[in-house]
Amino acid sequence: MAGMFDAVSDRYDLLNSVMSLGRDRAWRAALARAVPEEARVVLDLCSGSGASLDGPRRPGRLLLGVDVSLRMLQAAARRHANGGWAPRLVCADAFRLPLPAGSVDAVTIAFGIRNLRPRPAALREIARVLRPGGTLAVLEATASEPGPLAPAHAFYLTWLVPLAGRLSPDPSAYRYLGESILDFGAGPEFERDLESSGFALLGRRRFLLGAARLWIGRRAGSGGGVQIAAVRPPALQDARPVSSPEGTPAVAAAARDTEWRVWTAAQFIVAAALTVALGWGIWSFVNYGSALPLETWQRNLSWVLLVGGLLGFGVRALVLLGRVLGPPSRP
Ligand SMILES: C[S@@+](CC[C@H](N)C(=O)[O-])C[C@H]1O[C@@H](n2cnc3c(N)ncnc32)[C@H](O)[C@@H]1O
Repeated sequence: MAGMFDAVSDRYDLLNSVMSLGRDRAWRAALARAVPEEARVVLDLCSGSGASLDGPRRPGRLLLGVDVSLRMLQAAARRHANGGWAPRLVCADAFRLPLPAGSVDAVTIAFGIRNLRPRPAALREIARVLRPGGTLAVLEATASEPGPLAPAHAFYLTWLVPLAGRLSPDPSAYRYLGESILDFGAGPEFERDLESSGFALLGRRRFLLGAARLWIGRRAGSGGGVQIAAVRPPALQDARPVSSPEGTPAVAAAARDTEWRVWTAAQFIVAAALTVALGWGIWSFVNYGSALPLETWQRNLSWVLLVGGLLGFGVRALVLLGRVLGPPSRP
């Protein structure tokens, strides 16, 4: 597992964005919001290149990023190479965490739980380090529930994701990605594992028609036992000066904003091109449509598709243009 993630670490973030249609940042932001503000010690498990460490980072909070892949952690270290309240990165196995029992107030896992098998054993280890009453928030890419969308999503995971993975040095990792998402399913089995491992399910959310889901659970028990910061973390200030030359907070943030802006601009270009193509299609249909041998229902359907598509992609292009020209996005 570590070797596979070592191999894809260089392009992992880009491919993640492509495959989630640019939505992974918003999903990770929802994951971070699930962490109670007063959580003093937060463990982000399966941290990878550190994309999910941005959200829960707070002044005064000890944020631990744990992953089994050293190269992914090195990417995370570059990303968070700055002074104040940077996460502590630890290379360790999720099944044997180097943490005392009950020492953590909240655990987050983004796109990692699927890789941890047997899952009940991983959840038991998380329950061990989490204090009673502590929060577990899990974001995961999921398969669709049985229904009309399921075959299209399965096709996407089985064929298109491995195709996108050809951009990566290890395409087999992306075959694994599609297969493991299908194997994880839509989540009912995971919810049973959560309950049997000592967690109460507090809530769940579904993103992009079920392509990803967020679960929020609470470790059973009475709570207490771990000291909570007397001062709410947002009230604290970053006391440490910025010192790292290659990775000041401003430089790291600028790099992330540039990556986000380039990706949003690429989506805008696709939406704008489709809008123009549909406009041209409508113009052609108005001028030459009468010569086409179409039944009335076929003609009406063509109008619905052309006009609906033009409006949909037109609005999408405008929204994306607003984002590209607007202020930087923050998780
Ligand atoms: C899909 S990546 C997710 C990275 C990151 N959380 C994100 O949101 O982009 C899954 C990560 O889980 C890590 N992983 C897999 N098995 C693990 C284990 N047994 N212990 C710790 N980390 C593990 C991999 O090394 C990889 O970095």
